[in-house]
Amino acid sequence: MTMKDRLVRGEKVMMNNVSRLPAVFARGKGTYLFDTDGKKYLDLLSGIAVMALGHSHPRLAKVMQQQAGKILHVSNYFFLEEQVELAEKLRNLSGLGRVFFCNSGAEANEAAIKLARKYGRKLGGKYEIITALDSFHGRTMGALAATGQPKYQEAFAPMPEGFRYAPFNELAAWEEAVNERTCAVLVEPVQGEGGVRPAAKDFIQGLAELCRRRRLLLIMDEVQTGLGRTGKLFAWQHAGVRPDIMTLGKALGHGIPFGAVLARKEAVFEPGDHSTTVGGGGMAFATALEVLRVMEEENLPERAGRLGRELTALFEEWRERLSVVKEVRGLGLMLALELTCPAKPVVETCLQRGLLINAVTPTALRLLPPLNIGKEELEKGLDILYEVLAVVRP
Ligand SMILES: Cc1ncc(COP(=O)(O)O)c(C=O)c1O
Repeated sequence: MTMKDRLVRGEKVMMNNVSRLPAVFARGKGTYLFDTDGKKYLDLLSGIAVMALGHSHPRLAKVMQQQAGKILHVSNYFFLEEQVELAEKLRNLSGLGRVFFCNSGAEANEAAIKLARKYGRKLGGKYEIITALDSFHGRTMGALAATGQPKYQEAFAPMPEGFRYAPFNELAAWEEAVNERTCAVLVEPVQGEGGVRPAAKDFIQGLAELCRRRRLLLIMDEVQTGLGRTGKLFAWQHAGVRPDIMTLGKALGHGIPFGAVLARKEAVFEPGDHSTTVGGGGMAFATALEVLRVMEEENLPERAGRLGRELTALFEEWRERLSVVKEVRGLGLMLALELTCPAKPVVETCLQRGLLINAVTPTALRLLPPLNIGKEELEKGLDILYEVLAVVRP
């Protein structure tokens, strides 16, 4: 059966909930993917920041196999040893004392929203959360209501109440949005789905100060930026501002459904407040522990920062040479090229040429390469992208 046949079968049976690209993958190794026809691709998207250590990482494959034969799930009435070890590790790395594990980024944000409301209730019934325009926090109803993009919300109205939106990086508007009902602000340190837009350091520092002054919780959504992607283990470390609550997902589970909420002890659940049946499970805990070990041993956050600076400098040269490149944005290995033309045809041509990237907005290309990508592979991918961009008509 050809890949084309598989695509046709897939389109008939899968919900048409995203606009897909024409490839069915059979396996991956490091930075490479192979489709069911055997064609090889360079993956500079990493499953949207999930596969931070590349595909089929031998150490991760080993712990997954071992854990599958050891223990996976016992209900949330009990702890697993890997769960406790991971929670301690995350606490030590972040300085946030309490952890809740769940199954996705959206679910982590749902838990953060509930924590904020629980905290606000204690302050006399405050419940509003301010989030950023063009943000993205997930597709479940609470996370969707927190997402400041009406295009994602319109078909599913009415949204849950209690969210206000303010422009990203415009501190004065956030000051103005705070009222007697506000209990928290929720922000991505780099807006991912909104087009790869880093928060200014003084914006994050100003938000922290605002939160201190008005007794609000500062919640950082690190689902996409977390675990080394931006050049620090957590992106809030760039601004030197520790949030009260942080959410994680994507790279933490490295392909196993997983999410986490970390919080200061002022914002905690009590028995009966919140739960989930599996909450990651043994495979996710063991995998996340190994992801963190590899990142630490190979100094990957720092490497991502260094590679990101080199790439940004290179893309700035492209911008001067290629009229189709209008702007270069990003932090670490979370980068975007704003184009003067639609991005989708560029992505499609790259795919035909064996390179995976994506169109994060209609006019912006996004690159999220694995943090351990080899220089040679990166250069190969960049050569393809340059050649494609060089013949695009602006
Ligand atoms: C910043 C951010 N938060 C939350 C989510 C939602 O995570 P998930 O798709 O795992 O529910 C995403 C997904 O792209 C994200 O980028």
